[in-house]
Parts: sequence; structure tokens; C-alpha cells
Amino acid sequence: MAVKNIDPELAEELLAKAREAATRAYCPYSNFHVGAAILVGNQIYTGANVENASYGLTICAERTASFAAVLAGHIRFDAIAVSCVDVSADHAQLHPEMLMPCGACRQLLSEFAEPETVILVDRAGKFKLKDLLPNAFRLLNRPNN
Ligand code: THU
Repeated sequence: MAVKNIDPELAEELLAKAREAATRAYCPYSNFHVGAAILVGNQIYTGANVENASYGLTICAERTASFAAVLAGHIRFDAIAVSCVDVSADHAQLHPEMLMPCGACRQLLSEFAEPETVILVDRAGKFKLKDLLPNAFRLLNRPNN
């Protein structure tokens, strides 16, 4: 069951994992390191963005983390953290949109999370998936609907 509210210590741990994962990003083109961490039970799965010379093939941190969790057998996420570590403190304050998960990743996460699932966005705040992606597209044959 998705955590409706997350213990502050656990939230900090999840954010720390996302920041650490960002150091493993492969992003020679943008030099914009992003990390994500997904909580499932007492396990945490991480991911980072992986870019490609054919730019459109780039994959975001939220998606590599999601795939790590799915490949470990989990299709229900309890909480997610994302960190865009290269955004300066000034930019983070003036342009928090630089810290937010992209639209494609919001949709991807909605496959494995509930509308109430917490998404921690480093330096931007704590959100619920339904606030980041209202009226998400879903099909009826999604497992456990
Ligand atoms: N990126 C992510 O990893 N997650 C997002 O939600 C937004 C963007 C990555 C993709 C690309 O490697 C870099 O950030 C710049 O767009």
C-alpha cells in the first residue's frame, strides 16, 4: 500500500539515495545529473538518467529506477524520490520547475503508484502523484485495479 504520509527520517533516507544515484548518471550531453529512489516495503531501488548520442533515446532517472524495481518483482511503489543535483541553490529557489519530474515519468510512475503515492522532489517539496498528474491515463486491465 502506498504510504500516504512518509516518516521524515525515511523521507530523508530516500532523498539521500536519490542524490547518491545521481552521481552514477551517464549524461555527457546535458551534464544534468538526476537520481531517483523508489521505496517498496523496506527495499529501495535507485536509478539515474542515461543519455545517448541519439538524443531521443535518453532515459530519465525515474524510469531507470522504476525498471530496477519492476525487474526485482515489484509493480507497486510505496514512495518515490527524485533529485536534480546540478541545479544551483539560486536556480532551485527561483526556478523550482527545474527540479520536477518530467511529464513522461509522471505517466510511467502512475503505472506503479497510486494517486495518493508520495513523490519527494529534492528541494521542491513533497507531492502526491495525483497533484503532479491529475486524471492520469490508465487502462482497466492494469493489475489490481
Ligand atoms: N531528466 C531526468 O532524468 N528526469 C526528469 O524527470 C527530467 C529530465 C534527465 C534527462 C536528461 O538526461 C537530462 O535530465 C536533461 O534533460
